[in-house]
Amino acid sequence: MSVQAFCRRLPKAELHAHLHGSISTNTMQKLINDVSHTVDKSERDVWSTVINKEGKRTLHECFAVFKMIHELVTSKEALSMVTGDVIREFADDGVCYLELRTTPRPLKGISKRGYVDTVVAVIQEASNHLELPVKLLLSIDRRQSLEEALDTVEMTAEYQQKGDGVVVGIDLSGDPTKGDATTFLPALRKAREAGLKVTLHVAEVPNVAETLSLLEFGPDRVGHGTCLHPAQGGSDELVKCFESKKIPLEVCLTSNVKCRTVQSYDVHHFRDWYERGHPMALCTDDKGVFSTSLSEEYCVAHSKLNMSQVELWKLSLSTVDYTFVTDDLKRQLRHKWQDCKQNYFQQ
Ligand code: IMP
Ligand code: ZN
Repeated sequence: MSVQAFCRRLPKAELHAHLHGSISTNTMQKLINDVSHTVDKSERDVWSTVINKEGKRTLHECFAVFKMIHELVTSKEALSMVTGDVIREFADDGVCYLELRTTPRPLKGISKRGYVDTVVAVIQEASNHLELPVKLLLSIDRRQSLEEALDTVEMTAEYQQKGDGVVVGIDLSGDPTKGDATTFLPALRKAREAGLKVTLHVAEVPNVAETLSLLEFGPDRVGHGTCLHPAQGGSDELVKCFESKKIPLEVCLTSNVKCRTVQSYDVHHFRDWYERGHPMALCTDDKGVFSTSLSEEYCVAHSKLNMSQVELWKLSLSTVDYTFVTDDLKRQLRHKWQDCKQNYFQQ
């Protein structure tokens, strides 16, 4: 079996996927067509060029793309459509468990809560016909105020208490060069007190003091962790703290290299943490913006980081341990992984 076929067939859990960054080129084109009667052709051409750009973008350019995507998703209908497409595409890629995250924002005629209701409704609808458990994290954007962050936490706790089991926690993300994430520590503590799971984007760019405060808070998982090591602008204290707490790391290989926070796969921090036996999950981050898929991330780990198929299998199975779900669902997921192994890999 080719590596591509192996990675496609491998059961996979996606733990770090931003909804709007995951919108594929196809879906983006649908959005552009939808606004064709209100926006002139030159603007539509600019959008198409930006969306179709392959290769690397600076961190700054990536955030300009998010802004543009937000300008295209302005109605409840558009939000429903993109959420449905993103879930289907992950399912088609052999993803067997999906955690989406999104930053609630008011759209035409709907409040932030209306936004969350819309995403939750699409997730519930998808569960009627797809064998793919989907959970949702609500994101705090670093550019927001503490009051907005506290509102997001309160809203997340309300949804969690409704008991439909879709909304499970909080993410902290947004442009890492903006704001000070430690501002949000009171909101993050409230989230934990409310029994919510918490994952934080950490050390995407060098910032020792902020990173240390976030790690000391003790999140359930962290995203990226690019600049922990002294050679990447971190410190020995950060490495020691991260290692001793064994906080699972959401690794986004293509995202890091394409937005140039990591210079090349050869120097990616994955290998070092893997050799230390640190808990890790391969993730896409923004599969639309970076033209990738979760299967592709496993292929990259094979081709660029010398991971064998056996290692990829073990890595994928271990990811189930870091999902934000009940022990019962984790057990069901592990069974699914074992069934797939028997069906696909022992022929
Ligand atoms: P949304 O939350 O569904 O609107 O997804 C897009 C948002 O995710 C962006 O506006 C950022 O706030 C966040 N995001 C996506 N990728 C990254 C990343 O690599 N670092 C930090 N934040 C990110
Ligand atoms: Zn991210």
